[in-house]
Amino acid sequence: MRIHDFHKRNAESPDLGSLVFFEANRDIPFAFKRVYYTYGVKEGIIRGHHAHKALEQLLICVYGAIEIMCDDGEKKECTVLDDPAKGLYVGTGIWHTMKWLKDDSVLLVLASEYYDESDYIRDYDEFIRLVKEGYWKR
Ligand code: TYD
Repeated sequence: MRIHDFHKRNAESPDLGSLVFFEANRDIPFAFKRVYYTYGVKEGIIRGHHAHKALEQLLICVYGAIEIMCDDGEKKECTVLDDPAKGLYVGTGIWHTMKWLKDDSVLLVLASEYYDESDYIRDYDEFIRLVKEGYWKR
């Protein structure tokens, strides 16, 4: 888990807003093959509850505020994403949940691989078993 600060260009006038960008392999540690986003979620809702075998992801809250809980099987860490110019890298073998802190916050995710349900671990006991087996080299 690591926060990445993206490049930001503020326009001359605040009313014109800001532009943020980042580049695969240069600003984030992988090249992405897939982008998805989650929207229309109410405050207090928690999504996720899974880990990935091989997928790497970058999570960006492009609007609103979302708390990300990451669990490597030994310790849990929470990060609030509330700045569209920052992204949270979530590597392989991290059990994670996303809690909406504000209605209609939007979570944008860049993923290193195409969608593959067999890469998901959706059972926490199985996740802990794989951590103990050393499935992921830490
Ligand atoms: P899931 O990753 O479980 O969502 P969340 O972690 O936000 O709760 O995905 C929800 C559903 O969408 C699940 O049936 C899998 C499907 N899905 C795809 O078909 N393609 C994708 O790229 C993603 C991310 C999910």
